[in-house]
Amino acid sequence: MSQLSPVLKQATPVVAMRGEGLHLYDADGRRYLDFTSGVGVTSTGHCHPKVVEAVREQAGRLLHGQYTTVLHDQLLTLTERLGDFLPPGLDSLFYATAGTEAVEAALRLARHATGRQNVIVFEGSFHGRTMGAASLTTAGTRFRAGIGPLVPGVAVAPFPAAFRLGLSQEEAVAHALHGLDEVLATVSAPAETAAVFVEPVLGEGGYVPAPAGFLAGLRERADRHGILLVLDEVQTGFGRTGRFWAHQHEPEVVPDVLITAKGLASGFPLSAIAAPTELMKRAWPGSQGGTYGGNPVACAAALATLDVLREERLVENAAEQGARLLDGLRAVAAGAPGIGDVRGLGLMAASEFCRPDGSPDQDTARRVQQAAADLGLLLLTCGIHLNVVRMIPALVVTAAQIDEALALWSKAVAAGARPEEAA
Ligand SMILES: Cc1ncc(COP(=O)(O)O)c(C=O)c1O
Repeated sequence: MSQLSPVLKQATPVVAMRGEGLHLYDADGRRYLDFTSGVGVTSTGHCHPKVVEAVREQAGRLLHGQYTTVLHDQLLTLTERLGDFLPPGLDSLFYATAGTEAVEAALRLARHATGRQNVIVFEGSFHGRTMGAASLTTAGTRFRAGIGPLVPGVAVAPFPAAFRLGLSQEEAVAHALHGLDEVLATVSAPAETAAVFVEPVLGEGGYVPAPAGFLAGLRERADRHGILLVLDEVQTGFGRTGRFWAHQHEPEVVPDVLITAKGLASGFPLSAIAAPTELMKRAWPGSQGGTYGGNPVACAAALATLDVLREERLVENAAEQGARLLDGLRAVAAGAPGIGDVRGLGLMAASEFCRPDGSPDQDTARRVQQAAADLGLLLLTCGIHLNVVRMIPALVVTAAQIDEALALWSKAVAAGARPEEAA
């Protein structure tokens, strides 16, 4: 008799038997409103009929077509179709399975393409759990402690997390860019710096959107020093923030390398990295690849996902419902002294729990998240102190479902409040 390893930390006790749209169902038929979307993956909702049909059709035709042995039609079609959505100039793509693998690939590419070794990341960033990606991750020591030595050559600059820094958005941007300049002057010389890796919205690090001007400041410095700007849009991409890519909220910023995964294939393991062909050519041929990259069934799911995003106007819906969600979260926070900040972009929204002295309140965040699960609303925590509760519903979410989630959220916040703050 074996059991699941205790190294997996479960956010809820739910055993899902079936999923449909925004809902998961357990063995007793209990329905849960899923505002986790499998950590931002099921962008078109659980088991969207068009995605399921595409997967069924492809599964009967070709399950695996190893992409450095043979090419297959889904891979070629997806590559062509993604071209309609990629930032200008990023005309070359290849695929892996998980987000973390794509981050590893981008790290290898950055080092090959520049001949430089160092990489700069930002406080609170999350890029994955494999050793290279974990070395770029500073969203909490829980992702790094005890597994070292990590990959060397990583320097950390401040992220403009205004609330945590106690600064205005403008001050936070100035502080973070100054910090980056200091890192370039003191730790990682520009001539030794291959790339800057950044999430346009900190994900696991607490759902902190980069304020206006930050990405442009990074672009300017990257250009000035010949450093590559690598945008990790694993969690923020594919419409989640109300633009196809989150960095398009700052339209003049174009990355050198873009990493995507999660929402790309509605639940199938598929990640991709995009860059200009000229840059990709500087990597050593054969230096990238993998057994499962660009799996035909996952590519079919990605193509169906693109169709659904367009046909159902899901990027626009993410912007619209995201605004409704954020307004509702702010209204709940107005009556809840334990919530110190509400923030988000599109359908990435979060509430940060603080004690009366302003310190992070992980216990309340956890109680509220558990209370929500008891009430039938599935949520996740995040943040470097795990004191942030995030909402990431599928992009097919309706206004009625947002309102239902907010009603449950309000009850959960009351149920999980610190005793002295309970009404
Ligand atoms: C921004 C970001 N990058 C990379 C990853 C790693 O992706 P995966 O879990 O698919 O390896 C994640 C996962 O949460 C993420 O949010």
